[in-house]
Amino acid sequence: MTALYHILGAKQFNRTELEELFESASRLENRELWNTDPRFQGKIMTTLFFEASTRTRLSFESAMSRLGGKVIGTENAAQFSSTIKGETLEDTIRIVSGYSDLIVLRHTDIGAAERAAKVADVPIINAGDGAGEHPTQALLDLYSIRKECGRIEGLTIAMIGDLAYGRTVHSLSYMLANYPDIRLLFVSPENVRIPSYVKHFLDEKGVSYRETEDFDEALQTADVLYQTRIQKERFPSVEEYRKAEGRYIINRDILGKMRQDAIILHPLPRAGEIAVEVDDDPRAAYFRQAQNGLYIRMALVEKCLAAK
Ligand code: NCD
Repeated sequence: MTALYHILGAKQFNRTELEELFESASRLENRELWNTDPRFQGKIMTTLFFEASTRTRLSFESAMSRLGGKVIGTENAAQFSSTIKGETLEDTIRIVSGYSDLIVLRHTDIGAAERAAKVADVPIINAGDGAGEHPTQALLDLYSIRKECGRIEGLTIAMIGDLAYGRTVHSLSYMLANYPDIRLLFVSPENVRIPSYVKHFLDEKGVSYRETEDFDEALQTADVLYQTRIQKERFPSVEEYRKAEGRYIINRDILGKMRQDAIILHPLPRAGEIAVEVDDDPRAAYFRQAQNGLYIRMALVEKCLAAK
């Protein structure tokens, strides 16, 4: 048996793999290819979600359906699976491995996907592990940057908001380290700064970055404004959350200060940090970004199943 191809974290990807994946995603944007590939007939993907999700779960399920495979799963696994009876994640994964060809897992605990991969007989895709990582979101973020800006290398990317608990920021930072001449600007309130383990990785890879609380610097220099939600559910106390909320809001005034050729991304959902009045601006790329999630996840499902 060949080794299973799991997607556990952003660091596992090199530039060649990223480019191959983007080529596949781009090919799969063509609707005429949907439901035509016999390799997916009779294949089953399980989505096992222990945390809330709209885009990630539904785009994975749509991706598998559009490839021609089938989907089973539970969207509230903490309550609707045997976890509530005390079953361990490991046991759940062992069982579900026998029912399907691929498992997409979102969990509350950092490292849950790695634990799942140790006991699974089928590929595991990490769809978010607590405040840890969200590699498939980072893939669609990079794919969106490449489509919108025409390249990834040489860009200045400002990550704004909750950089401590925002797992998409961690994964995207790791993945960007594959590209030359990237500059990262981490804009956040003091109590949700980018974790030191992310900075150590960037230091090792020689990626240039700066931390600041100054939004204006980002507006003047960034090619990409990557706005994020303050992850209310992960704060140790309401007081800590209050210190971080509402600091950086992109509204019409901010649009006026932004570069004309810059774009705004957001993994979504938003919780007030991008005003609705921004949506019609051509630089607002977040809905196009969410759509790209479908194509990237089709490419990922294809890759995982092909490697099996
Ligand atoms: C993100 C997540 O779940 O980490 N959402 C997503 O998957 N698109 C970001 C968030 O919840 O703020």
